[in-house]
Amino acid sequence: MNKRLLTLTLTAIALGALSSANAEWMQKGGEFEKAIDLKPDIENGRDIFEVCAACHLTEGWGKKDGTFPQLAGQHKEVLIKQLSDIRAKNRDNPTMYPFALPEAIGDAQALADVVGYIEKLPMNPDNGKGKWEKGTPEYEQGKKLFEENCVKCHGKNGEGDAKKFYPKIQGQHYEYMLRQFKWIEAGKRRNANPDMMKQIKNFSDKDQEMVINYASRIPVPKEDLAPSKDWTNPDFD
Ligand code: HEC
Ligand code: HEC
Repeated sequence: MNKRLLTLTLTAIALGALSSANAEWMQKGGEFEKAIDLKPDIENGRDIFEVCAACHLTEGWGKKDGTFPQLAGQHKEVLIKQLSDIRAKNRDNPTMYPFALPEAIGDAQALADVVGYIEKLPMNPDNGKGKWEKGTPEYEQGKKLFEENCVKCHGKNGEGDAKKFYPKIQGQHYEYMLRQFKWIEAGKRRNANPDMMKQIKNFSDKDQEMVINYASRIPVPKEDLAPSKDWTNPDFD
């Protein structure tokens, strides 16, 4: 580990100890309110994204096994909110935290820049999916659960709602979504939306798997996808 990284990691651990007592879904006066109104510098965003690409890949596709989420395709508003929540320790992410700090990438303008860059990346046409194919009873039951419990916020096709900061979940990796779902349900994701927590509190493990299986299989509109799963980001050639 080089010296800069070591300092960052130690800072991260120290700040982590001061775990924020007022974690909440929508922190007023959060950095995101500022970042959202700033005009992004896409060139600078690309340079910052090089840091992110170490985990989220240069395509912003994350990993099918769910270790790293896909960022490509996510609403700008959601990306900015999640990043500033992670920076403010309103959402725990020990792996990424040191790399997301202002000391590592810069202030609110840096958030706007990197998100401005991510926003133009096409999505992975081959996201990680659950095991139940269309036509199986589990797929159908997942669809029903989705329609009854998720559509009102995440939309019919899991497209989310940028203005309300509801994430797009269409095209996201199954394993990542399942982990987030369980953390939200258990109160472990501290910026979770309280109404979503209420909505899902009676879900069994099987219900969770079925509904996320369905979400992972919702087709993404062609114009949002990269031309093939072998596409590579030319900005990093
Ligand atoms: C060391 C690996 C690593 C690096 C570097 C990294 N991330 Fe992450 N990131 C993660 C992990 C792991 C998660 C998911 C954590 C979880 O499961 O809650 C994540 C989650 C996110 C999320 C939340 C996504 C969502 O759907 O809610 C955003 C946004 C994000 N990262 C953006 C970035 C940006 C921008 C950078 C560069 C400045 C970056 N990350 C650098 C590992 C990393
Ligand atoms: C009342 C609105 C609401 C309902 C109902 C709801 N959600 Fe959410 N969901 C949210 C919000 C808001 C977030 C982001 C919370 C935050 O800012 O951290 C979220 C986050 C998520 C995430 C994590 C996304 C990511 O990129 O990290 C998943 C997965 C998810 N919801 C799935 C579901 C599923 C499946 C259902 C139905 C069973 C559901 N949600 C019902 C509002 C809702």
